[in-house]
Amino acid sequence: MKKIEFAIFEAIPKMQGNCNLRSGFVKKILLINLIFFGALVGEDGSSASLSAAQEARPAPYKANDYSHLFGMPGFSRDALAVHFKLYEGYVTNANALLSILNEYAEQEKTRTPQFADIKRHLGWEMDGMRLHEYYFGELGGSGLPDKNSALYHAIEAQFGSFEAWKKDFEAVGLMRGIGWSLLYQDLKDGRLINMWINEHDHGHLAGGNIILPMDVFEHAYLIDYGLDRQGYIDAFFKNLDWEVVDSRYQE
Ligand SMILES: [Fe+2]
Repeated sequence: MKKIEFAIFEAIPKMQGNCNLRSGFVKKILLINLIFFGALVGEDGSSASLSAAQEARPAPYKANDYSHLFGMPGFSRDALAVHFKLYEGYVTNANALLSILNEYAEQEKTRTPQFADIKRHLGWEMDGMRLHEYYFGELGGSGLPDKNSALYHAIEAQFGSFEAWKKDFEAVGLMRGIGWSLLYQDLKDGRLINMWINEHDHGHLAGGNIILPMDVFEHAYLIDYGLDRQGYIDAFFKNLDWEVVDSRYQE
């Protein structure tokens, strides 16, 4: 239990860096849980030994190191450092929420408003973590697509040309709001669709294969480009590693 409390104490300050309106709400929920769980710890601070369920839990997620991207043209060190910090916050928060939900399950307190609120919020943190891993993982390249790749051919076959697909993808990325422009592959029939993902968790294609997400939250471009989102999108494409992107496509 002490471990959980510690994780929550650690998570709360980091959550402030997430630049979202919901962080205050989640902080409140976590504080409620802290009080709630704190009451379950003995006065001497002892806690029960690990249950079988606790021992079977997967290890917490670990944030990846993307510092090799420092120096990437069109992305300042300051902007990348802020972005990496925000990503690490999603990892921390995803772990904290999963820990709390595990405790609720073990304490048979799943039919509570707190459980429901955290469960509803979990997708936001989890998708925030995972989408950033796709995003940072596809950067650091030359920006030159392989015109012989299966993905390139599929794009040409479906959209008429690579440029037509890119125009549509960029139009999604230029939509007002915060979120992601995301090239999905519908695995049901293989078709490619540029989707708008609102924030991190609304608008995903069920059963879809994530090919290419582009972050268009303001934190991704405001530091370097102000309101010039197109300038940021141009820099994004100039640094894409198409070998990574191509490897995600399923023939
Ligand atoms: Fe981001």
